Order: sequence, then structure tokens, then C-alpha cells
Amino acid sequence: MRVLVTGGAGYIGSHACQRLLNDGHTVVAIDSLYRGHRAPMDALSAGHPGRFAFIHADIGEGGRIRAALDEHDLDTVMHFGAVAYVGESVDDPLWYYRNNIASAIALLEACDTCRDGRGVDRFIFSSSCATYGDPPEGMIPVPEHCPQHPTSPYGRTKLHFEHILLDYAAHRANQDRPLALTMLRYFNVAGSDRTGLLGEDHTPETHLIPVAIQAAQGKRESMSIFGADYPTPDGTCVRDYVHVEDLIDAHVRAAERVKPGRAEAFNVGIGKGYSVREILDSVRRVSGKDFRVIEAGRRAGDAIALYNDPTKIQRDLGWQAQVTDIDEIVTTAWNWMQAHPDGYGD
Ligand code: UFG
Repeated sequence: MRVLVTGGAGYIGSHACQRLLNDGHTVVAIDSLYRGHRAPMDALSAGHPGRFAFIHADIGEGGRIRAALDEHDLDTVMHFGAVAYVGESVDDPLWYYRNNIASAIALLEACDTCRDGRGVDRFIFSSSCATYGDPPEGMIPVPEHCPQHPTSPYGRTKLHFEHILLDYAAHRANQDRPLALTMLRYFNVAGSDRTGLLGEDHTPETHLIPVAIQAAQGKRESMSIFGADYPTPDGTCVRDYVHVEDLIDAHVRAAERVKPGRAEAFNVGIGKGYSVREILDSVRRVSGKDFRVIEAGRRAGDAIALYNDPTKIQRDLGWQAQVTDIDEIVTTAWNWMQAHPDGYGD
């Protein structure tokens, strides 16, 4: 395959670039470097001369994207580039809609008109379990047919873009240019690649596992549990943590198996939920350190409990998470953060 990876310099996108390159594909990564990092781009470029290119651009720069699609004759798009914090989306919803919808439409237009009007053959979209909001009774674990009622602007941007993609895929089918469309609804992505090259380095960092690791490293004086009064077994929110390399494996399988003319949604999560307290216990076990935890109020936009029913992705893509032990996931994150105390250092 010849793949455009948007958000290629970000946490998940960089892992996708690495896997695709290791599998022998040609990869062009684009990233605004607003939250992504140049260092992993340089490392991948050095390791795969001739098969990897990095373009410093925003997904809203349709002309530049189209030029890249044409120049490299790219047939597949993996679209990771987005802003992706639930709490931040509550504070600045219009910015979330601009990035995740308006700019993403410019990307899609480039994907439509490139390659002498043939367009790209495959599009794989990073959607989110945040599109489900709080599932109704009987819908946890969450299957793909669960009603989608997001509780945050972030979740709504992902759901709206799913609808835009479905309309676009129908249009392509009508024009006898069938697209293979996959929408992967991620649960909570965690950990880092086991070679130690890539890791998770966000500014600001808000995700539970890296925040807890920073507390264990003594980089934070304390950390907060956002809500200890939820209707869950220990009062804290429950999430499904999937290792980033397993997540990328789902993309590769989707690219290989979803046929032209098909539009498929798959949940990507291991199928087991962990509470915030259970994650903190895991970080304590892996690091061997204790740290100060404050029970704070609930964070706006948070769903109560979300974990996946992996039946569909196992059946249709043959996907199975390889890393299912939470301590193993946390260990990969811990190892990278210990080896890179300043992240990528940029
Ligand atoms: N949490 C804390 N303290 C912290 C950080 C997080 O208690 O310092 C809690 C949150 O309230 C939440 C859980 O830990 O209950 C997980 O929070 P994260 O911020 O790690 O992840 P989210 O579940 O909010 O968000 C992630 C992805 C989104 C995705 C979403 C789906 O970042 O892209 O899962 O729920 F959409």
C-alpha cells in the first residue's frame, strides 16, 4: 500500500507509520506539529530511506494534501489528525469543530479529486467510543449498534465526521468509484511500542496513565481522581485500555480486508473495563512507587463506564488484542517515560 497518514507525528499516528514501514509499505506522514513531534519523523525517516516522507502541513491545507496524494500516488488514507481531549472540547467547542470537521472536509475533498479524479481507494478514520456517550442499559460492553449519543463536543465531532464519511462513500459508490471506508471507534489507547523508539508525549498531558506515571516519577506533586461518586463498583469511571500497537494492527487489518464499496464501523478495545483506581494500582505496581492522589470533582463530558464488545472486530477482521494485561500496557508506557524524562524534548 501507499499510505497517507494524517497526524503522523502524533502519538498514535507515529505508531501507525512505524508499523506500515515495517510491513514494507510506502508512507507519507503529514502533521501540523501543533501537538505532534518532529523527532519520531526524523527517526523513521532515517530508518526507512526512500519509503517515508514527512510533510509539515495541516489537514485543512487541501491543495498541499492533494499534491502529496498525486505526487506519491497514495491509495490509502489513515486519518489520525485531530484534536482529541474531551475536557478541552467542552472549553473550546468551535475550535474542535474547525479542526475535526472543517479541516477534515478539506482533507476529504483532496482525497476525492486526487489521482486524476479517481480519488483514494481506502479511507480509515480514527473515530471514538466517545461517540456513544453513556450507553443505555444492556449496552455495556458496547457493541457497534449501540445508539450514539455523545456527551462532549469532541465526541460529537467524531460522530458528525462518521456521517460525512458515510455520505461521501455513498456518493463514490453512485459514481462507480467505490471507496473502502472503515471507521474505527477507539476505546482508550495506551502504552508505547516495545522497541522503545516511540512514546506518548502530550502537552498538556491529561490522559490517566501518563499523568499517573508522572506522579509516580515525582514530576507532579499529586494527581486527581475526577469523580469518586460514580455508580460503578469503586465509584470511579471505567474504561477499556487498548495497547497502541494492537490498535494499529486493527488499521492494517481494515486496510487489507474491508472491500471497495463497503463502509464498516468497528470498535477497538480489548473488552475489559478498568476503573481509575485500578489503573492507579497498576501504575503503583509497575513503578514500585506510591504517589499522592486527591479525590476531586467530576470532569465535564466524561462518560461513566465504557468498555468494548469485541465480537465484530474479532469476527470480521480476525483482530485479537495481543496485550490484555493492564500491567503489561502500563509497563510499556513506564519504560518509555523513564527513558525519555523530557518526552521528545521539543
Ligand atoms: N482521569 C482522572 N484523573 C486524571 C486523568 C483522567 O481521574 O488526571 C480519569 C478521567 O476522568 C476518565 C479516565 O480517567 O474517567 C480516563 O481519562 P483519559 O483522559 O485518560 O481518557 P478519556 O476517557 O477522557 O478519553 C479517551 C481519549 C479520547 C476518547 C475517549 C473515549 O483521550 O480521545 O477516551 O472515552 F474519545
